[in-house]
Amino acid sequence: MPARLEIEGGVPLRGTVAASGAKNAALPVLAAALLTSEPLGLANVPALNDVRTMLALLDRLGARATRDESRVQIQVEHVKSDRAPYELVSTMRASVLVLGPLLARHGSARVALPGGCAIGVRPIDQHLKGFARMGAEISIENGDVVARAGRLKGAKISTDLVTVTGTENLMMAAALAEGTTVIENAAREPEVADLADLLNAMGARIRGAGTARIEIEGVTELGGTNHRIIPDRVEAGTLLVAAAITQGDVTVTDVVPDHLWAVLAKLEECGVPHEVGASWIRVRAAERPRAADVITSPFPGFPTDMQAQIMALLGVADGHARVTETIFENRFMHVAELVRMGACIETEGSTAIVRGVDAYQGSPVMASDLRASAALVVAGLAARGTTEVARVYHLDRGYERLETKLAALGARIRRIE
Ligand code: EPU
Repeated sequence: MPARLEIEGGVPLRGTVAASGAKNAALPVLAAALLTSEPLGLANVPALNDVRTMLALLDRLGARATRDESRVQIQVEHVKSDRAPYELVSTMRASVLVLGPLLARHGSARVALPGGCAIGVRPIDQHLKGFARMGAEISIENGDVVARAGRLKGAKISTDLVTVTGTENLMMAAALAEGTTVIENAAREPEVADLADLLNAMGARIRGAGTARIEIEGVTELGGTNHRIIPDRVEAGTLLVAAAITQGDVTVTDVVPDHLWAVLAKLEECGVPHEVGASWIRVRAAERPRAADVITSPFPGFPTDMQAQIMALLGVADGHARVTETIFENRFMHVAELVRMGACIETEGSTAIVRGVDAYQGSPVMASDLRASAALVVAGLAARGTTEVARVYHLDRGYERLETKLAALGARIRRIE
């Protein structure tokens, strides 16, 4: 039986906890190792299953990597294979991030088409359209995307929708293209800007990352460098919501508060008091939260990756709230489980109507994806009685020792293997 988490709810969390490095920054940064034959020295790399999956994939492609706690040294002297197989891509969609770097450095890539996942269909058509604009030939062969190109050519690209890994993939490919590439409607997520910082330190010429217009002047070669991964804003946000829902007093350190602006604004609307320092955020909650409507949108809007966790909070808030998910079509898998815990939530298409109840009741629940799992843990921390969250492997994809961090804040939580 896979590991479960057992949580005895009702303890207000207290203390200080550090955020780890960001999963969604670490994955593209690791993929960028494919762009150079020289080594990258990476710091603040979180110990997560998704990071292990990316390292396993890069290993097959020719990378040699060593890891010492949160430091990773990685080098791809020669690309040994251009193939990302289905077994890896199907466990982690972010595997598709090797497509751009392989194409740019090696001239070909064969990556299994990701297909669907628990939170929706999630096509990669925008990535492929962009590569085609840069001169790549794209075909689908036996379930794989096959991309081939001589040296890629700079192009004007405007994506039809905002895509985070799409922007990252195109930016990496464009870094080695001939001429200038402009990406309009680019994702503005901090993780995109972090990747651009790394690429520029490797010798790329990228301007505007973090805005909707990124300009990349291609260079012929990139080199090695050292880079520190930015803090995980979603992990930090999850810990802050855990503090709020237990009416605790928690300081999360090692964060970039600007990256959490939308989450903090929403907590404020919910009447959750907090203080912000240069690299820390403290939530000091002594009352039941108030209801507030939430709509997810690309950065700097409210992140879809925090939607489930904030819904867990709204489930026990005073009043009714509407939570609208605009990024993914099927990201309400936590609703049925929260209802098992006594929540009063109904969904209508992409909106969930949440009527706050006084308290959750501990119950056995099942995780379905990463952020849904986090929401169930958060709810369990506030529930009356014992909650058992099954299928914790979803949580382990994106949270580094979440139960250890929560236990250090006083939570009664343990892993049952
Ligand atoms: N989309 C398309 N075509 C494309 C690309 C995207 O239709 O070519 C659609 C998607 O189906 C989705 C929307 O556009 O409906 C946005 O998708 P996006 O490409 O931005 O998502 P992603 O890059 O696959 C990253 C994060 C996700 C996060 C989303 C949105 C990584 C490795 N993953 O995914 O993180 O939810 O951006 O912010 O960066 C998580 O950490 O739990 C997680 C799912």
